[in-house]
Amino acid sequence: MRLRCTIPMLTLIIAAAGCDWMPGKPTKADEPVVPSDVHAFTTLYTNNCSGCHGANGQFGPARPLNDPLYLTLADDSYLIDITSGGVPHTLMPAFAQRDGGGLTESQIKDVINGARRTWGGHAASTESTTPPPLQSETTGDVGRGQSLFATYCGSCHGADGTGGDVAGSVVDSSFLAMASPQALRSTIICGRLDLGMPDYRGHINGKPAPQRAGLTALNDQQVSDITAWILSHRLEYPGAPYPSLKDPPGGETKTP
Ligand code: HEC
Ligand code: HEC
Repeated sequence: MRLRCTIPMLTLIIAAAGCDWMPGKPTKADEPVVPSDVHAFTTLYTNNCSGCHGANGQFGPARPLNDPLYLTLADDSYLIDITSGGVPHTLMPAFAQRDGGGLTESQIKDVINGARRTWGGHAASTESTTPPPLQSETTGDVGRGQSLFATYCGSCHGADGTGGDVAGSVVDSSFLAMASPQALRSTIICGRLDLGMPDYRGHINGKPAPQRAGLTALNDQQVSDITAWILSHRLEYPGAPYPSLKDPPGGETKTP
């Protein structure tokens, strides 16, 4: 009687214990990770940012984040604001859940902290020059911007900005329709070191670019002037065909 009772009980105990190591049973590692539980910088950056800002933070269509000078000038609240809310009228999406994005507030902080940890550090020596602030209220002057552009940028982009031997157009209306004033300003201050565009001092990764030899570092006012001149090329309806008197409806040329 005692034995008959114990055997089925024993079987039950073994069966119950056995479930934990049955072949095919998913282990903890096989359980799907809820997207909001991902906190590793590399995963967050690769899944959300690298398509535009480039693998390892450079060589993407959007500005490199792998840039110590940029990360020195951009403070946390600036980076978190932009990553959360995006940049309206550009391709930079909003990532905060409250704005329809897919990242929690703590994940957005993880991306920014991770970028600083991975790519920040000491910007190449700024010698005696103070970098212009990344954000500025200084009003630019289009006329001054035009001549500054010809002097500082013309050797690579062409004196009128339509493109030269080294770099493409910065006055193209389709380009300007998708770039914010801040993106232009950030580029003029920090350059595109990955693509060979120098920073405000005329340096590429700490080395002077020959095209900027003999020119002083750009200051806040000069950066605003150049930005204003570039923006003066924006069109109300970019990419549309523009009718003119020589090109009347119907395709015939009107004789006055
Ligand atoms: C679909 C493309 C795309 C994705 C994905 C994207 N960005 Fe951007 N990002 C852009 C573009 C384009 C700009 C420039 C917008 C403008 O004109 O101001 C930008 C601008 C920025 C800026 C401001 C740059 C400046 O000039 O100061 C930051 C910071 C930034 N992105 C961070 C991120 C982070 C972090 C992620 C991932 C969580 C991310 N971006 C994902 C396209 C993208
Ligand atoms: C040494 C050559 C050189 C000089 C000088 C130079 N650039 Fe560039 N610039 C480049 C290259 C290379 C690129 C990337 C390729 C391209 O856009 O054709 C670039 C890209 C740009 C872009 C587009 C950036 C982007 O992320 O889409 C802007 C805007 C720009 N330059 C503005 C300027 C302005 C304004 C000046 C003067 C203050 C200047 N550049 C001086 C070489 C130069």
